[in-house]
Amino acid sequence: MSVDEKLKKIFAIKRENKKIKLIDQRLLPHKVKIITLHNYNETIEAIRDMAVRGAGSIGVAAGYGLAQAALEAKHLNLEKFNKFIKAASDKLLSSRPTAINLRHSIDRCLKVAENGTVTERIQNICNESDKIAFDDIKASRLIGVYGEQLLKENSNILTHCNAGALAYIDQGTALSPIIEAKRRHKPIFVYVDETRPRNQGAKITAWELSKLEIPYALIVDNAAGYFMINKKIDVVIVGADRIAVNGDTANKIGTYEKAVLAKENNIPFYVAAPSMSFDLKCESGERIEIEHRSSEEITHISGVNDSNEYTKLRITAKNTKAYNPSFDITPAKYISGFITEKGLLKKPFKKSIKNAFK
Ligand code: MRU
Repeated sequence: MSVDEKLKKIFAIKRENKKIKLIDQRLLPHKVKIITLHNYNETIEAIRDMAVRGAGSIGVAAGYGLAQAALEAKHLNLEKFNKFIKAASDKLLSSRPTAINLRHSIDRCLKVAENGTVTERIQNICNESDKIAFDDIKASRLIGVYGEQLLKENSNILTHCNAGALAYIDQGTALSPIIEAKRRHKPIFVYVDETRPRNQGAKITAWELSKLEIPYALIVDNAAGYFMINKKIDVVIVGADRIAVNGDTANKIGTYEKAVLAKENNIPFYVAAPSMSFDLKCESGERIEIEHRSSEEITHISGVNDSNEYTKLRITAKNTKAYNPSFDITPAKYISGFITEKGLLKKPFKKSIKNAFK
């Protein structure tokens, strides 16, 4: 089976008129279950509870969610329709705060719904939500092509969290250059951070790489320094949830420390991200809202027992207090470049980012 045939089986999200279908990422890697979301409230819940996750996928989900809302409101008059869409947009926007893709998707869909009859506005929102997904596919492929050029034969790549086909449709962001290398038969090896607390690396990235038959090994989050200082890692590639104009980057908690370690060990640290992940209204990382999630994600762990039954276990004493910021900001000074659909953006980032996306 070719890489592309294998990729088709790892789909993040699809829209079929009012229904959204997605692989429930909460159950991976133990169960590949496709769930159907019938209305926009179900879509909001799926984003909030991370049945669908990863900046690109939640951006597409938000656009599709607004398409569902528009279709649900087809019997309303124009005034009531507009109110309904505004309320649905606000709810979708608050489902997860850090990834800017979600806001960009909603803004794009609202823009095309500014004029016309109710029927025309519904059609425009549906078309735009599909176009967002289509544009993301193109961006994902181009990120792969540009990023692959940075990988030498037998490169050892470290990645954090999951920035593959489930996080950003088609072949992801950080994993896209890796998949492109596989397509071109370039030998590479991937070190996968487990990515506590939700273990997106252990549960999703490792699963995706094994499905694509790309050689990898899972490491615990605090082992990256060991592998770096022992010269086992040649390059770090991560994704992004939001990038400020100065290049400061929000990504999964733990990304910042990997970037500092990479600089200390003279290892290039790249962020792979499309235009949809840049926030040109945000001057620096301090202004990016960081999502804080339930402490239960830290105090409990989930998986399957030997009978393959899904189990959730508490690993701490009852009522243990835990803080759970879901993202951190990597200051631009630690980033070697941004791999985007417009090519590799180099320092000074303020200039290259503005030039690429103005
Ligand atoms: O909380 P998550 O799993 O949605 O966080 C995902 C990440 O941090 C990814 O690295 C990021 O979205 C980039 S992939 C498009």
